[in-house]
This record gives sequence, C-alpha cells and structure tokens, in this order.
Amino acid sequence: MQSTVRIEMTSILSTVSNGTPAVLDMDPFSIPCLEDPFSLQHAVRETDTVVWLKPYGIYAVGRHAEAKDVLSDHTRFTTTAGVGLADIRDPNAWRVKNPLLEVDPPEHSQIRSALMKIMSPIVIRRWKSMFEEEAELLVSRLLEKGTFDGLTDLAETFVTTVFPRTVGITIDREKVIQFGDLNFNANGPQNELYWRAFEKVEPLLPWFDDAFKREGMTPGGIGAQIYDAEEAGIFPKGTAVGLVRVLFRGGFDTTISGIAFALQQLAAHPRWWNWLREDWRRAGAVFDEALRHQSPAQVMFRTTVPEGATIGSHSLEGDKKIAVFIGAANRDPRRWDKPEIFDPTRDVSGAHLAFGVGAHACLGLLIAKFEAEAVLGAFARRVNTLEPDGKPKYRLVNTLRTLSSLPLRVTAP
Ligand code: HEM
Repeated sequence: MQSTVRIEMTSILSTVSNGTPAVLDMDPFSIPCLEDPFSLQHAVRETDTVVWLKPYGIYAVGRHAEAKDVLSDHTRFTTTAGVGLADIRDPNAWRVKNPLLEVDPPEHSQIRSALMKIMSPIVIRRWKSMFEEEAELLVSRLLEKGTFDGLTDLAETFVTTVFPRTVGITIDREKVIQFGDLNFNANGPQNELYWRAFEKVEPLLPWFDDAFKREGMTPGGIGAQIYDAEEAGIFPKGTAVGLVRVLFRGGFDTTISGIAFALQQLAAHPRWWNWLREDWRRAGAVFDEALRHQSPAQVMFRTTVPEGATIGSHSLEGDKKIAVFIGAANRDPRRWDKPEIFDPTRDVSGAHLAFGVGAHACLGLLIAKFEAEAVLGAFARRVNTLEPDGKPKYRLVNTLRTLSSLPLRVTAP
C-alpha cells in the first residue's frame, strides 16, 4: 500500500484539466512495474479516466467502463495499426498485420464468422472427452509423485499436449514456450525483455516460417480446415497462414497462465479448494475468477482513428496508441467489490475483460474453458489435499502475467 502511494505521488506530472488527460510518468514495462503490476494498475486507473503515459507518448485506460468502451468501439479505436505498442502501419514495421486481429469490421466480421463455423461450439465440444482423458492421466501421474510444479508439470504439459491436437499441428514444447515469450514481449516495447526473447528465438525463425504452412497441418484439425476454406475462396488468398498463427499465438501462454493461477489460488485457500471438491462442476467458476483476479493478457492496444476520439470529457489526438490495461479493469473497485480478493462465487463470466470484449473478443474462449474445466475437474475428483510446496515465482513478460513456477503438494484420498 505504501509503495502504491509513493509511486502515484511522484509519477503524476499533471492532473486533470481542460479536457486534457493527466500525465503519468511510469513505465509499465519496467522490471519494478512488471514485478508489481498492481501498483501500476492502481496508478493508471485512479489517476484519471484516461491518462497520457509519458515514457511512450501514448494514452492508457484502466477503469472497467472505459476499457470496455475502447475495446468495443472500432469506429473510435482501431486495431488496424496493430494490437501491440508498435504502429504496424509504419513502413519500417517488423511484421505484417494479422488478417483477423488487426482488421476492423466489416472486413473482420466476414473472416471471423467463417472461422467461427470452423471452430463452432459443436466442433469444440467434440474435443472435450480428449481433454478429460488427458487430464485424468496427467493428474494420476502427478498424484503418484506427490510434489510437482503446477506450472511446468501440469499447466504447460497439459496445454502443450491437447491444444496442438485441436489445431492439428505437431509442435515441440520448447519452441511453443520460446515463441510465446517472444510474442507477448513483442506486443510491448523493444526493451531488454524483448531482445532476450528475440535472441533465443532467432535461430528458430526459419522453422517458424515453415511450421504453419499447409504441409504442416494434420488432416481434420482447425489448421487444415482453414487452408481448405482459403482454397475454396472463403478466406482471402494468402491469409490462412496468418489465421493459423493467431490461434497458435493466442492459445498457449494465456491458457497455461490461467490454469496455473487457478491452482495457485486453490492451493492458497483451503476454503475454495473444499468448495470445488464438493462439486467439481464449479471448475469453470474457479477458472473465470482466476482470470479476473490476475488476467494473463494484461494489456492490449488500440489506436485512435485519424480524426481523434473522445473519452468522457477528454479529447484524444488522432493516430495515437492507447493501452487498455485489462488487468487494471478486472480489479476496478467501481465494478467489483473487494477486487483484490479471489472469490469464485462472484458472477464474473461475461463481465471480466480477461478474454477481451467486442468484435475481437477471444475466439478460443470455449477451448480454454474446456481445457481448464477438464484439468481442474480431474483434480477436484481425484486429489484429497492440495497445498503450496514453496513460493510461486513469476516470469516477467511485457504484456503477459504468468508464473514460471508453482510448487505444489498433493495427497490422494
Ligand atoms: C485463458 C485463455 C485465454 C485468454 C486469457 C485469452 C485472451 C484474449 C484476449 C484478451 C483477446 C482480445 C484481444 C484484443 O481485443 O486485442 C483474445 C483474442 C483472441 N484469442 Fe484468446 N485468450 C485465451 C485463449 C485462447 C485460445 C485457446 C485461442 C485459440 C483457439 C485463442 C485465440 C484467440 C483469437 C484468434 C483471438 C482474436 C479474435 C479476433 O480478433 O476476432 N485464445 N484472446
């Protein structure tokens, strides 16, 4: 609490005046802010409805209502300049725009609705039993061990086993982790974290260019169907590779992080662990609240349209990036009672912003939920006691909140 106050006092350079947002001199991607995101979230959220983040020359919002507004309204806030900090329209941009995430409606709506046919709830439900079988096997193995790492041995092992099967791609676990690290660092600034991730991945770039081509797709998976649809003219020519990539980029780290956060809270709070054991069908509520509470996708970006935009009484310049602090919005006391407390009896589903909102809301939400329900449900059915076996550690990533290790101890009934 003390440090929150100190950071605020020294960092707010100007307060609200004549429609200009207050200026905040904090670097959200510095090591201290990534280590303690809650002080940064507090500062962004409580300073003003929208702030000017001085170190990057961008706007930022952290309140639930404004975050929802910015993410939902493409007529004021576009994704066509990229959902990261960098403006991908810049001729020197290091990457091309993604054909789903970085296009606005109506172009986006056509691609999205075709993808939603390939990834319909009926299709996704068919994978449920595969998720459940794998979860049962994994939980049995971990029960035999007694102590294990909830992040690497459980969440990472599970997601990297089942998720590639849905996309229909064979992929090495280490590569998944390293590319994920680069992806979520690259959405932020090109700081040391980014360059460290980039150096690790650089030798693998030729592999990355090939991995998502048609030849790499297993028949029947989402990936192969996306290529079929491209051939049939449903998706514009040349977009299939980008569509498969966005699934790959969106589907691993976020789900791994969310499952680990749920386990972290269950191990720390015997009350909620017993509550889940009483009825394992509560696993979905535990997962949703864990996502609200720590929000894996911490920050996404939009850009004001060229003519500028307003938020409440503030006028924003055109063509400026705006950071949407999802983690801050999910702890906004205007929206949630005692937001810092983990309480899976809250009704958060569809209200928290961890999966985004509006046209670009997460397309893999149901897959992530079924994965989490399978694994947390198997835990609740088969495990008697679940406790911490040491302190959890966090991996610092520019735009992702995630653990690097979660030591756990379990006993069988
Ligand atoms: C707990 C797990 C997950 C979290 C927290 C999460 C979070 C998000 C968020 C915040 C967005 C919105 C981005 C924006 O508005 O800029 C998003 C979009 C997206 N997610 Fe997820 N995601 C998760 C799992 C998945 C999975 C498993 C997949 C793959 C099947 C996936 C694929 C996508 C795609 C394709 C989009 C872009 C949708 C569009 O632009 O229309 N996500 N996700």
